[in-house]
Amino acid sequence: MYTRRNQRNLTRTEKRRLIDALLRLKRTGQYDEFVRMHADFFVTDAEGRPRAAHMTPSFFPWHRRYLWEFEQALQSVDPAVTIPYWDWTTDNTPGASLWADDFLGGTGRAGDRRVMTGPFAHGNGGWPINSRITDAGYLTRNLGRPADPISLPTKEDVARAVRAPVYDASPWDSTSRSGFRNAMEGWNPGGGERFGNHNRVHRWVGGLMLGAASPNDPVFWLHHAFMDLLWIRWQRAHPKAGYLPREPLHPAHPHAGLVFGLRDPMPPWDVPPAELLDHRRHYRYQ
Ligand code: CU
Ligand code: CU
Repeated sequence: MYTRRNQRNLTRTEKRRLIDALLRLKRTGQYDEFVRMHADFFVTDAEGRPRAAHMTPSFFPWHRRYLWEFEQALQSVDPAVTIPYWDWTTDNTPGASLWADDFLGGTGRAGDRRVMTGPFAHGNGGWPINSRITDAGYLTRNLGRPADPISLPTKEDVARAVRAPVYDASPWDSTSRSGFRNAMEGWNPGGGERFGNHNRVHRWVGGLMLGAASPNDPVFWLHHAFMDLLWIRWQRAHPKAGYLPREPLHPAHPHAGLVFGLRDPMPPWDVPPAELLDHRRHYRYQ
């Protein structure tokens, strides 16, 4: 049992140890295996293939397991390290300590968006981008997209999603009009901004956070730890509403066989959502 903490409360030493563990996993190649796994599971609902990770009810349990596996890798390097979370409703500017030189470094430079500061700047040599997904060999960001400004989701945006009384709803994809999952994943069918909550944060960071290889930017883990916490908040707000769909979809449903019901084993771990609903055996949030 260990604790995931708000990144803004980490000490200098705690930040340093997290960075060191990340750099170490990068050197051994394990980090890039996680990036590749995420890219392999970046399946959209237009593709007609099973989708465990995105545009799908198992978005939350899949990423919970994915983060947990990554956290195990971090702890194999340094047992004291856990994944902190980034509450982007509070630390919502490029001036936040998250982006300082002693932590994740700042935004990209004009032109090629290359990150020039902090431990993941290409010039420091420790963070080559190896995934086949992108041509650039360096980390890129465009925090807040100054040329076409975008803001991070607000507390009210989050609260609105957490108020949803059901977990998810048919057609169980990016067009689901009700349910916590799509409101928080943020595909916003039909209404207002095209990208909300989770998706909007990826867009606000920009650069490599935009695509299938988004874990190339270490802020991915801090963002998804907060998503995991928001799922817990939804569970606490609606203790009688469970994961949906409970059963595999009826064979006549257009997404039959493509989404994961409560007891359907999810790749690559063969673990069903049912086994990922309760995080408390492994970690807690503070
Ligand atoms: Cu993802
Ligand atoms: Cu994401």
